[in-house]
Amino acid sequence: MGILSGELLAGLVKIPSWHLVLAGIATFVVVAIVVNVLAQILFRDPNRPPVVFHYIPVLGSAVEYGMDPYKFFEENRKKFGDVFTFVLLGRKMTVALGPKGNDFILNAKVSDVSAEDAYHHLTTPVFGKGVVYDCPNHRLMEQKKFAKSALTVQAFRTYVPAIVEEVRNYWLKSPQFFDGDTNRASANAHLMTAMPELTIFTASRTLQGKKIRAKFDESFADLYHDLDRGFTPLHFVFPNIPIPATFRRDAAQKKVSDTYMELIRERRQTGDFSELDIINTFLKEAIYKDGVRMTDREIANMQIGILMGGQHTSAATSTWALLHIGADPELREALYREQIEVCGDDLPELTYENLQNMPLLNSTIRETLRMHMPLHSLMRKVRNDLTIQGSHYVVPKGHYVLAAPGVPMIDTTYFRDPMTFRPSRWDEVKNEIKLDSDSEKATISKGANSPYLPFGAGRHRCIGEQFAFVQLGTILSMFVREFTWTLPDGRGVPKPDYTSMVTLPSEPTNIIWTRRTVPK
Ligand code: HEM
Repeated sequence: MGILSGELLAGLVKIPSWHLVLAGIATFVVVAIVVNVLAQILFRDPNRPPVVFHYIPVLGSAVEYGMDPYKFFEENRKKFGDVFTFVLLGRKMTVALGPKGNDFILNAKVSDVSAEDAYHHLTTPVFGKGVVYDCPNHRLMEQKKFAKSALTVQAFRTYVPAIVEEVRNYWLKSPQFFDGDTNRASANAHLMTAMPELTIFTASRTLQGKKIRAKFDESFADLYHDLDRGFTPLHFVFPNIPIPATFRRDAAQKKVSDTYMELIRERRQTGDFSELDIINTFLKEAIYKDGVRMTDREIANMQIGILMGGQHTSAATSTWALLHIGADPELREALYREQIEVCGDDLPELTYENLQNMPLLNSTIRETLRMHMPLHSLMRKVRNDLTIQGSHYVVPKGHYVLAAPGVPMIDTTYFRDPMTFRPSRWDEVKNEIKLDSDSEKATISKGANSPYLPFGAGRHRCIGEQFAFVQLGTILSMFVREFTWTLPDGRGVPKPDYTSMVTLPSEPTNIIWTRRTVPK
């Protein structure tokens, strides 16, 4: 112990020792801030991207970025251009904006940047071991291929009626739509309650089969909630922070994974692989190129990854879409007319083919994703010093790079009047999408250079795009056919809330719905 220990010193000058401790901490903080500020002013490395000024070391720009990433990106783009670095809770993040920035990051070599190094501490405790970011990248590529091979047109044809059935059942059970009175003609529904539920019911039913879907009426919904609560910005920074949410996440991971294991064992024993779901595709096909077979535990864990990959993204998108449609009665009625034109006056059961013939419906989804890309930041950890194309900047190993595909999607360079929700701006020509830019010449390809990338690009691109369109298209069609709805009190569409892992509408997210035909 040093001679001038706190107690001794306190005894000498009659100051309680905790005052000394506080004074010590305050001095440390002040010195750290001063050193941090001076370092930014005096030592600017010309070979590194400019750093966003911040007072508090470690915390860096976390508050400004976390509250409104798009405002933060825009303000700093004005100061520095498309490339700059900011400090986020001790991590150095280099942002590269615009289509070129997206291309640079999303198409970077796997030897140079790594998604698993950026995400695995967050995802592995939730999904489980051996899958997604808890395995080498080439394994993930094959896991995605296995999952994708389940998502065929043949499967989608069976998914549409299954989703229709789920939506109808939901309306009969959910207090947002039903209160025991079959003649209920109108009510107020909270979308951020209803849409996550509808999303998980429809995704589990189609992607994982009836038995797993049934478990969501029992304990599974709560377990998935527990997994969700372990998938927060807090866990991104402190993956194993000892709080109840972390303990519940770990317990839920084991129980959910065990449940999938039971189902896998049962299907293997009975030899019943008849459902066109992803579990069966994995059971039949999940052998890697080098002959290694995915274990049942890995297949089980993969199911959690797949369900969670589409859960918040699709739930947020359907909620935003319903809010925008509710705010625009003309659009709502045009969507209704489209249902009748494509399917017939008596609105028979919806089919997958019907959905393909509904340009306004698909443009509404596309426009929703343009304005409200659920994932505002896609991150990679840098594995080798990375030179930014066309500049002398080098991002060193150990830093992170961050792509924000949502930025060009709301940029006037690419979209006229980008903050206006206007599905008619989309004019679909097969896979090529005409862009409503000032020049009207540009076309949007699916390459990373495109200004429209709601599903990402490159090796980590989403595998769920077609499924998401089927799921969202079916759910939205069902709402359009059954209800008219508006936002309460003439309120406009809510502003985004960026504080969770995906961009959600801020509360209240209610609609007032009225049934088009009151049931007898
Ligand atoms: C990857 C968006 C629905 C499964 C991604 C990425 C984006 C994205 C932007 C790239 C992430 C990155 O580069 O770091 C969306 C949106 C969705 C959606 C906007 C719905 C509106 C789904 C669904 C599934 C799914 C329904 C599952 C059926 C995946 C998977 C990846 C992925 C497995 C690959 C992750 C990787 O390779 O690192 N998604 N997604 N997504 N998504 Fe989706």
